[in-house]
Amino acid sequence: MAKVLVIGSGGREHALCRQFLLSPQVQQVYCAPGNAGMAGDGVQLVALTAFADLAAFAQQQQIDLTFVGPEIPLQQGLVDYFQARQLPIFGPTQAAAELESSKSFAKALLAKQHVATAAYREFSDYTLAWTYLQQQALPQVIKANGLAAGKGVTIVTTLAQGQTVLQDLLQVHQFDTTSVIIEEFLVGEEFSCMAFVAGDQIVPMPLAQDHKALGAGDRGPNTGGMGAYSPLPHLPADLAQQALEQVLQPIVAGMQQQQRSFNGILYAGLILTATGIKVIEFNMRFGDPETQVVLPQLTSDFYQLLQDMLAGKTVQPTWQHQQIYLGVVVAAAGYPGTYQQGAALPELSQLPAAVRPYYAGVALQQDQLVSAGGRVFLLATRAYDVATAQQTVNAVLAQLPLAAFTYRPDIGWHALT
Ligand code: AMP
Ligand code: GLY
Repeated sequence: MAKVLVIGSGGREHALCRQFLLSPQVQQVYCAPGNAGMAGDGVQLVALTAFADLAAFAQQQQIDLTFVGPEIPLQQGLVDYFQARQLPIFGPTQAAAELESSKSFAKALLAKQHVATAAYREFSDYTLAWTYLQQQALPQVIKANGLAAGKGVTIVTTLAQGQTVLQDLLQVHQFDTTSVIIEEFLVGEEFSCMAFVAGDQIVPMPLAQDHKALGAGDRGPNTGGMGAYSPLPHLPADLAQQALEQVLQPIVAGMQQQQRSFNGILYAGLILTATGIKVIEFNMRFGDPETQVVLPQLTSDFYQLLQDMLAGKTVQPTWQHQQIYLGVVVAAAGYPGTYQQGAALPELSQLPAAVRPYYAGVALQQDQLVSAGGRVFLLATRAYDVATAQQTVNAVLAQLPLAAFTYRPDIGWHALT
């Protein structure tokens, strides 16, 4: 029987742990550091984050597979660290993770592989950036070059707003960034295309749609993601195949040509414009909250899939095709700005059977789960259509005491209009 270690602590990692636990081969799932909400599923929390401690733990416990959820340990080279010690791990090396951590690396690879993306310019000098912005038609999109937890992107609709954003990024250094990308604003339907990758083998997952804006109707500030659903019944049936051929295959080939061949998840943030698919961003990890609605659709063994891919075998995982999986994030009131922590979570043990919680920013205080982060938990369900799935989750949320929290009641709305 196998032992698995998942790195991370959010709702995505909760979904990963659950999927591993479904494998008949998996005896124990550890999550480092994990969160208190996962413990109810039998996940064992491990209070470690330093690379040396994680590697020592994996060695002592004879972990059969380590899986990295978030981007930061990938960017810092956790996979390289484990590989150097012959510890089995699924994830991209530091060099491969640059596709996510460096927007300029991603843009250069897109250009080299002739994959469509927004026209852009990169600046590290405030005055040059500000001069350029004043010459562009608005809106423009300003992105911090570097990891910013999905919060380094602003769609600028006025020059005054653009000036403030450029000052924050290039003068105040709000994020750990030394340059910005100013890019063309694309119009179209956004979707997330995630795939398992091992060398040149690419195994796409069902498409999903995230809701990045805080407020209903996609208004308000950008967040890490307020809810998601999958698959996407309102988009063309061959869209996943198009994304595979036009984006995933050329990018994976380009990574190989640059000696950045990798095992891991490739997440393409895409937009279907009037002139076809264009790339908004790449991540080298599962999306959050997309994972909570995509991974449970896998009907074959998750653990076996990853082990086979690591061993270089050709895989054919199977997915459900009948239902829509939909999840609504419950965030702390005030998120993504400053928010209060320590608010008691509502009782979630009596939910209808079809509704499942995924815990994220939570902690245990005197036997009570309390909020300890921006995105606190997600409620997910599945149904034969988007409207029913949305209504099912909303009906549950409406009954809960959520004064200290906020959520979007319109997750999935693009499929409903
Ligand atoms: P990112 O973190 O790069 O995914 O950007 C966050 C969100 O900003 C995306 O999900 C889009 O909704 C939006 N966005 C980013 N770049 C563009 C663009 N060039 N055109 C339109 N919207 C964009
Ligand atoms: N949900 C978007 C992301 O994980 O980056």
